[in-house]
Amino acid sequence: MQKLIVQGGQRLRGKVNASGSKNSSLPILAATLLTKEECIIRHVPDLSDTNYMLQILCELGAEVERASGTMSVKAEKIKHDAPYDLVRKMRASICVMGPLVGRLHKATVSMPGGCVIGDRPVDLHLKGLEYLGADVKVDGGNINIQAGKGGLKGTSMNLQGRFGSTVLGTDNVLMAAVLTKGTTIIEGAAAEPEVEDLANFLNKMGAKIEGAGTTRIVVEGVKELHGAEHTVIPDRIEAGTFIIAGAICGDGVMVKRCVPAHLRPLTDVLQASGYDVTTTKDSVTIMPAKSPKGFHLTTRPHPGFPTDMQAQMCALACTTPGLSSAKETIFPQRFMHVPELKRMGATIELDGDTARITGVEKLSGCPVMASDLRASAALVLAAINAKGTTEVHRLYHIDRGYEHLDDKLATLGAVMERARE
Ligand code: EPU
Repeated sequence: MQKLIVQGGQRLRGKVNASGSKNSSLPILAATLLTKEECIIRHVPDLSDTNYMLQILCELGAEVERASGTMSVKAEKIKHDAPYDLVRKMRASICVMGPLVGRLHKATVSMPGGCVIGDRPVDLHLKGLEYLGADVKVDGGNINIQAGKGGLKGTSMNLQGRFGSTVLGTDNVLMAAVLTKGTTIIEGAAAEPEVEDLANFLNKMGAKIEGAGTTRIVVEGVKELHGAEHTVIPDRIEAGTFIIAGAICGDGVMVKRCVPAHLRPLTDVLQASGYDVTTTKDSVTIMPAKSPKGFHLTTRPHPGFPTDMQAQMCALACTTPGLSSAKETIFPQRFMHVPELKRMGATIELDGDTARITGVEKLSGCPVMASDLRASAALVLAAINAKGTTEVHRLYHIDRGYEHLDDKLATLGAVMERARE
């Protein structure tokens, strides 16, 4: 195991490129299982999660070749079962379920277990597949799915759940529906850019999908899909993390190769707080605020404020004068960063799904524990701005979802090094 030793008190300045999106790459790689032909996927970030997805594809029978960020996947003959040993390390492995059912009309996928960011059920994924006519049984820790005799059939459904739409649930149903007879209408679909990116790739493979990127997706089933090439969209959460770093302790940070429209929910909050944010077609620049004000955000499905940037915004609030708040409606318990930020001297009161944060002048470095991916990123950002040295333990959480985060922050002026635990 590794830890990150961060020397605090640095100012960040300069330009950094966004990597390809993790949360687009994972379902898009899974979607290559839908055809026997070769698919080429570009701009896949080098992360433990994407590497793990490639390993799963190999285990299912696909041939995978990689040349830096470009992946070639040919899934000529594949198996229908993804057992516990294969999928237990990453919850997002569940997104092989839709393609397996779509192509093979059956799948056995291990049921995902608990998660530090809260209870993460898959009932909506299963409900969606049942709407399509699949028989779903959970037995011995596995989800067994079998299409009826005539295969799956298109239908109308609403995938909205108690906490809003589901991203991977929408992906799974979409990937099963593309090879299903008739028309499928998904109401209450997730409108995240990553779902739209997946649909764009599926359409390049020969699928007929309209409305992706909105809450109503219409899929006209086709008989088969063919190979295709696709470049994954930039990672809006990684880009947003650098922008927040620029707000916390920057003297002008430009994030290049991103999609500013995907970052609007974040840049709107930052502008309201007093930051000078400017955009071009593919970059966002944040300049320091003369007198930043506290902010209040509520996480919601896209185009609302993303839950994946809530922790990093809490890190910003820690040293923003006045009172700020972050209400988490998607994963109401996603606050593992709070006790660690408090150890660094933050003033945070946690009241159910809401963190109320009163800004202090400076945090102070100390050993902290990374938990989930975004909570860990928040601790690194807080550490760059803190007084003294911070050791962020369990660094592997960050390597799951940020491509070379430490190197990229170092190019902006942060001082940090990896060491063995
Ligand atoms: N939910 C259900 N039933 C389901 C599925 C979800 O009740 O069957 C609930 C969840 O418990 C949660 C809400 O619906 O309260 C939204 O969950 P969603 O299904 O959208 O999450 P996900 O698809 O499993 C993806 C991202 C997460 C991101 C969420 C929300 C990937 C690989 N993961 O997860 O990303 O937080 O959408 O936007 O795309 C991360 O990158 O750090 C991360 C956790």
